[in-house]
Amino acid sequence: MTATTTVRTAARVVDAVKVYGSGDTGVRALDGVSVDFPAGRFTAIMGPSGSGKSTLMHCAAGLDSLTSGAAYIGGTDLGSLDDRRLTLLRRDRVGFVFQAFNLVPTLTVAENITLPLDLAGGGGDREWVDALVDVVGLRDRLHHRPTELSGGQQQRVAVARAFAGQPDVVFADEPTGNLDSRSGEEVLGLLGRAARQTSRTVVMVTHDPVAAAHADEVVFLADGRLVDRMESPTADKVLDRMKAFEVTPRTEGPS
Ligand SMILES: Nc1ncnc2c1ncn2[C@@H]1O[C@H](COP(=O)(O)OP(=O)(O)OP(=O)(O)O)[C@@H](O)[C@H]1O
Ligand SMILES: [Mg+2]
Repeated sequence: MTATTTVRTAARVVDAVKVYGSGDTGVRALDGVSVDFPAGRFTAIMGPSGSGKSTLMHCAAGLDSLTSGAAYIGGTDLGSLDDRRLTLLRRDRVGFVFQAFNLVPTLTVAENITLPLDLAGGGGDREWVDALVDVVGLRDRLHHRPTELSGGQQQRVAVARAFAGQPDVVFADEPTGNLDSRSGEEVLGLLGRAARQTSRTVVMVTHDPVAAAHADEVVFLADGRLVDRMESPTADKVLDRMKAFEVTPRTEGPS
């Protein structure tokens, strides 16, 4: 083992460039982003639509690959892994919460939560999963199917599923985007508690300043670049920062 640095970094991208397509129609979704997500912290990613937030999360989580630059989970360079090892790393060390919940409709709540463990061959820590059920408040819904749940409850199942395998990092792409404000608050509180109580790292994309205020830090993207970071965000401070984006026209560069 190599020596670890004092501040552990759970996930990191360095000079990340992502180009979709090529030539004249190519889109430079990430244009040289370097950002680290310290272990045990809850970080929010904000920025205008199309600024590269989802792309950054997908590449940092190993769901997609960079055009150039590097992405690390812990000390592991994702670009150095073959498909099989990348799949294993995603399974064992990364959780993902999608905006659209992505629950399996034919499975019960309990089966959805343990799905990653069952796919991995039935291992995992069942006591941990059992405790998670209480953290997300779904004890009395375990044998229901997703269609029998509210949106907030479905998203709580998705959060529990993301944490089921005890991943180092959970990435959540607008996890409250489809929820009313009360359900959204529940999910945000849950993500924050999960990060702090279980020393897990949570990275969340959001458009909502109130949601971002739950995080320890906010990083701002614009046009595929990291433009700012804010420690201890409040909804008002985030809103002020976002207003600055809105008066800045999107620069496409000279053609
Ligand atoms: N698969 C793809 N093929 C081509 N272009 C893509 C693809 N995915 C994303 N893009 C483009 O890359 C840029 C960044 O997209 P991304 O989805 O990362 O933005 P975002 O910040 O998550 O936006 P939103 O807030 O609307 O979700 C956009 O211009 C988008 O059109
Ligand atoms: Mg997005």
